[in-house]
Amino acid sequence: MKKRILSCIQPTGDMHLGNYFGAVKNWVDLQADYECFYGVVDYHAMTMPYDPKKLKNNVWDLIFNLIGVGVDVENLFIQSLVPEHAELSWIFNCFTPFGRLGQMTQFKDKSSQSSEKSEGFISAGLFTYPILQAADILIYNADFVPVGKDQEQHLELTRTVAQRFNNQVKKEYFTIPECLFTETPKIMSTADPSRKMSKSAGEKHYISVFADEARLRKQIRSAVTDSGDTLEGEMSAGVKNLFEILRACGADEAYAEMMKNHESGELRYAEFKDVVADAVVGLCAEFKARKEEALANKKDIKYKIKQSSAEIRKTAQQTIKDVKELAGLGNVKF
Ligand code: TRP
Repeated sequence: MKKRILSCIQPTGDMHLGNYFGAVKNWVDLQADYECFYGVVDYHAMTMPYDPKKLKNNVWDLIFNLIGVGVDVENLFIQSLVPEHAELSWIFNCFTPFGRLGQMTQFKDKSSQSSEKSEGFISAGLFTYPILQAADILIYNADFVPVGKDQEQHLELTRTVAQRFNNQVKKEYFTIPECLFTETPKIMSTADPSRKMSKSAGEKHYISVFADEARLRKQIRSAVTDSGDTLEGEMSAGVKNLFEILRACGADEAYAEMMKNHESGELRYAEFKDVVADAVVGLCAEFKARKEEALANKKDIKYKIKQSSAEIRKTAQQTIKDVKELAGLGNVKF
């Protein structure tokens, strides 16, 4: 039997090369060997100050983006279409050591962001966010969770919750999940290659996977190459980043050729950037075509997502039924 994978992503708008190579590409590749559940977590997106209309649009944008890059529709679900996540989350609230939540680095980072954005407001949901994440994972009895290192702490908490529940009900009910770390290229900002590519820094800093060709080329052409602080013969962070992007795109031959030029001191940045742009444009063209095809059948795809969420929900409902029984809840037998 195939092992089970679960992973989730927050609907935060645009998908950039950093998101794609850092996480989503992995999702696509894992589909061949595992049973995969991939969630768009809209309940999690409410933990920060947000706009309801935008949330709705972002969820569907992300769904179409994921389909565009090659995630199978049958593996996708929208978290709030499986409300059992929220129910299990409550139950897990009662199996989570309070003190551990305050130690979460994501909470520390995001609570200060939230506070800055919204006059000191920090939601209790932001604090209990990792409990909902534990529910996302355990409700499907996932064996593996492909995540970045930044999520390790949340996974460790998930394992604690599962163990505590199992101990309390005296049954090895939940599978203790493991992180699945894969080597992923680290893509840096094209405007400031000392920091990770991210949307929060502004438009110049990231390359959107679904931008049109002219924009892709323009952004790569204006990528920072000389940061001024590199020694003679040493590769600058900006050039290194462009090489990383080139390799990530699978352009092995071009990569080898450009590297040879670099080593002999003959790398011309203008030409190099054109080569990188060609590779990115080539990769993204395929994604864009697939996304456009999905968008042309928008209604049909939306219907399919509702269907796949309903199908995935059946597993979640079975877990909730078992958990309530084990936890002494909802006993209607007299
Ligand atoms: N916290 C994750 C992030 O910020 C998103 C997430 C929510 C998640 N639930 C999950 C990831 C379950 C893996 C499994 O990226």
